[in-house]
Amino acid sequence: MVIDCHPNYEALSRHAADMMHEQIRENPRSVMALAAGDSPRLAYTLFVQQVLAEGTDYSQCTFVALDEWLGIDHLNPGSCAYFLNHNIVSPLNLASGQYRLFDGTTPNPQAECEAMNRFIALRGGLNLMVVGIGMNGHIGFNEPGTPLQLYAHVAALDTSTMVVGQKYFAGQTVLEAGVTLGLQHFLESDKVLLLANGSLKAGIIQRALEQPPTLSVPASAIQLHAGGRVLVDQEAASQLSPASLSKIP
Ligand code: F6R
Repeated sequence: MVIDCHPNYEALSRHAADMMHEQIRENPRSVMALAAGDSPRLAYTLFVQQVLAEGTDYSQCTFVALDEWLGIDHLNPGSCAYFLNHNIVSPLNLASGQYRLFDGTTPNPQAECEAMNRFIALRGGLNLMVVGIGMNGHIGFNEPGTPLQLYAHVAALDTSTMVVGQKYFAGQTVLEAGVTLGLQHFLESDKVLLLANGSLKAGIIQRALEQPPTLSVPASAIQLHAGGRVLVDQEAASQLSPASLSKIP
């Protein structure tokens, strides 16, 4: 695991975009899993700009969603599908076979997870996973206590996730469960990129990165990942010891 501390969100996002771009240049058949949410938003915008400006061939790349709220339609701006459609799928004009998002309104969430597992496995597994970290240490909707061995699964949401998740929605929204790629996907992905910015993330980043890995803080699994890279801004890094930081640009 490598930790890179950047002066601000813009620099962190530029670095993340560069890494995503490098991934598809190195392996034009890359399979990437992408989180929604505030942390990766600017990185995706910069990535799309870079790919289009440089004319990088992404026609063989595949993108999958990290997770989705159950009961939330893809037309709802708070859904992960809406976020990924607007930030990745539409701007890159992806072909239908090049991406798979979770359907939050599926009558059979378990089958939805199995279909996602098959989609990823048929393409040889994940090459890069881009994730944020929840205030409770979750990755995707792998909430505290989730076993490491799970692939995509249906998840009951932690109270903290139900409360914090309201920030994505225009009005009070019932958020009780989700579907998510599992920590086994996270551990098996060739590379994982964890993004965290802002002072609110400082405490959980310190627990995830400097305390022994524990199921109580799912993001601490990144300590077990040889291809794990954490990009933080100075605020999110403010409780880390200097020894943890590989470089300050
Ligand atoms: C979203 C997701 C979540 C978020 C996390 C941080 O698809 O998987 O785990 O990454 O809750 O959210 P933000 O980035 O909004 O702080």
